[in-house]
Amino acid sequence: MAQPVETLDDVLRILGEHEDHAHRTLNMVPSENAMSGLAKLPLLLDCYHRYFFNEGDQAERWHFRGAQRLRDLEMGLTVPLLEELGRARYVSVRPLSGLNAMTLALATLGGEPGSTVVTISPDNGGHYATPSVARRLGLRIEFLRGLDPHTLDFDHAADLLRRVRPALVYVDQSHCLFPVDVARLVATVRAASPETLVHVDASHWFGLVLAGVFPNPLDEGADSFGGSTHKTFPGPQKAALLTRDPDIERRIRDTQGYLISSHHFAATISLGMALLEFRDFGGADYAKAVVANTREFGSLLTQRGTTVVAADRGCSAGHQLWLDTEADGVPPREASDRLAQAGIRVNFMAGLPGFAGQGVRIGLNEPTYQGVTLNDLPELADIFTAALRGTTPAARLADRTAQLRRRPRFGATVGAGSPLLRGALELATNALLSEQVNSPNTVPESV
Ligand SMILES: Cc1ncc(COP(=O)(O)O)c(C=O)c1O
Repeated sequence: MAQPVETLDDVLRILGEHEDHAHRTLNMVPSENAMSGLAKLPLLLDCYHRYFFNEGDQAERWHFRGAQRLRDLEMGLTVPLLEELGRARYVSVRPLSGLNAMTLALATLGGEPGSTVVTISPDNGGHYATPSVARRLGLRIEFLRGLDPHTLDFDHAADLLRRVRPALVYVDQSHCLFPVDVARLVATVRAASPETLVHVDASHWFGLVLAGVFPNPLDEGADSFGGSTHKTFPGPQKAALLTRDPDIERRIRDTQGYLISSHHFAATISLGMALLEFRDFGGADYAKAVVANTREFGSLLTQRGTTVVAADRGCSAGHQLWLDTEADGVPPREASDRLAQAGIRVNFMAGLPGFAGQGVRIGLNEPTYQGVTLNDLPELADIFTAALRGTTPAARLADRTAQLRRRPRFGATVGAGSPLLRGALELATNALLSEQVNSPNTVPESV
């Protein structure tokens, strides 16, 4: 049961305890990532409170003036960097998260109510929400299915597309070890149902795509793509949609204002800062390391006797690994509890393709961002295996995990005395001081 939290002191204490713990923990939840401290700065500042609607900087459209001096941070930073790294001509940074981007894409491209959208069956890793969101928009759903949990059946796809002539094929791999061959899927769609659009929801793969480590869906012929900016991409909790097609961009623009009002302007600026770091300070190396670390970790766990799905295919082509701990005698929730006590956070969940019950899903994206290298992986695999089997006291394992958490992370690290950091600290401190200490209602010692 939740305990009441009654004072700001208590809030700070709980946040502080979490921070201490987080800095000793390796987060291996594949849907999450960290981002740089500098990129978090906008979330503390005045921009956090502002709406921004006037992308074109038209004098008569500054109905909300708060973002006027900050316009370049979205239009001259976040948007062009996404266009550059995403190899797109047009970008929408309005979506708040992957699910919100999905809703916008389906509402824009899914056709009139009654039209059909074809998406990936959950048995092949399609996102759990796609069918429900589509149906709530009045769209009908048909599923692409697989030859096995990781491989689409392109003959079935061609038959289905010829039969239902969907408005949209929405490629929504979520539980995913191997990417769909988008070029082959687009060719199948163009041959079977030429008027159908193809949108790739690359929420899980987004960082790998922006780094050029995974093929860009637009280069593969998709009409548009998008996804979350906080899974393999180390950015804020946001999302984006990208296209090269001016008509699709116009349709997105026509729709988005009715689904999203505040697009979380400060997070959009954070995204720009994270993209800048990604482009200029080793984003491509990070993404290559994610893939190398994932494959190596899968192989090390397999060697230590853990059942890793698709071990015969190299375990993964991206950042996720799925473990059948039940087959090894440890129920997935128990496995997750044991790992948490050893300072490692993982998912346990039902619905992983090919699983009858629950499985454990892990990702090497955040550990890699936090600086874990190939050299660290044998130690991480030893900790992981000992925690799963309960062979070593959890507290000892947690100390070893905390050591791994001390690696220098990817991206722009700045010296403690650097002008950049001093400037950031000054902005952050002033924001806190001007809001609290200088306020007429100065907070008493205990509130
Ligand atoms: C394909 C796909 N779409 C949408 C989402 C939802 O993303 P978010 O959690 O950012 O809303 C996910 C999350 O895993 C996903 O994999």
